[in-house]
Amino acid sequence: MADMGEIIAQSLEIVAERAGDPAPQVYARLFAAYPEMEAMFVRDTTGAVRGEMLAMAFQCLLDLDGAYAANMIAAERVNHDAFGVPHEVFGRFFPLLAQTCRELLGEAWTAEMDAAWRAALGRIAELTPI
Ligand code: HEM
Repeated sequence: MADMGEIIAQSLEIVAERAGDPAPQVYARLFAAYPEMEAMFVRDTTGAVRGEMLAMAFQCLLDLDGAYAANMIAAERVNHDAFGVPHEVFGRFFPLLAQTCRELLGEAWTAEMDAAWRAALGRIAELTPI
């Protein structure tokens, strides 16, 4: 899909307009799905690491065609071994992100956005084999 990144960028802009920083909703969803992951962020008392992690995930989503996402995802997947994040959980961050954006956009979520996010998640699934 040629304009996948553009459509995703557009959806993220509307998320920001409507909801501001989506980090609280993203991490609430993550910890609801994987309660055991919450304790791993205990050192992140300010939320800065969570913010940085989310920013990198967005960056990867927006740059899936180039080498950036493939390199960062491969590197972080291995870095996360040290945090105790299993590979099958690591890749789940992106579908959780998609669900959060979809929920925040409500009726503003379009079929075009749905298709773009689906394509992106398909590509990410290839980059995060279990
Ligand atoms: C559900 C999946 C994930 C979990 C549970 C998770 C968990 C964590 C934890 C526990 C930390 C360390 C907190 C600390 O330093 O105290 C961290 C840091 C970080 N995560 Fe994640 N992570 C996930 C997915 C991702 C993804 C998909 C990306 C980006 C592609 C990412 C990027 C980062 C970055 C950039 C940091 C900052 C520190 C560093 O990389 O060394 N994480 N993550």
